[in-house]
Amino acid sequence: MERTLILLKPDSVQRQLVGRILTRFEDKGLKIIGMKMLRFSDEQARIIYVEHEGKEFHEPLLEFITAGPSVAVVLEGLDAIAIVRKLMGETFGPDAFPGSIRGDFGSSRRYNLIHGSDSQQSARREIDVLFNSSELMDYERDISTWVYGRHLGKLI
Ligand code: RTP
Ligand code: MG
Repeated sequence: MERTLILLKPDSVQRQLVGRILTRFEDKGLKIIGMKMLRFSDEQARIIYVEHEGKEFHEPLLEFITAGPSVAVVLEGLDAIAIVRKLMGETFGPDAFPGSIRGDFGSSRRYNLIHGSDSQQSARREIDVLFNSSELMDYERDISTWVYGRHLGKLI
């Protein structure tokens, strides 16, 4: 199973979309193993978005992500990183297909509601910045058999 970090950015919280966005991931079968609400400090935001340092949108991005509280969630599932990116849609709402989160809820070229890790390496780094291992829950979910299927006693 793969882990990924999603952030419901300050615009999701302000627009009261947290429940509806999280439902998309739950409906897909992804398992929530960690969740917290936080307001990013400038320092934390710089760590999360270190790969964009030096780009022209870096400072506005930091201003956006620190503008209010966000919700950070760790999701687990088969191919969780790619699945989350598909559910999120293209980076900006006007380009994203209807049916995706950004396609359905976003109309801005800056305020784009959600972040999702883009590789296993980023996921590990981002989860480590925001969560202690004791904040990540290790539990069996009875429906996993029905989400993924089972053959010879093993999830497939
Ligand atoms: P994210 O990292 O937030 O999940 O989004 P993403 O992978 O779809 O987009 P990425 O290219 O990683 O960009 C990170 C965030 O920077 C802001 N951005 N602004 N040209 C611009 O003004 C611009 N490009 C990117 C967005 O907030 C984007 O989510
Ligand atoms: Mg990205």
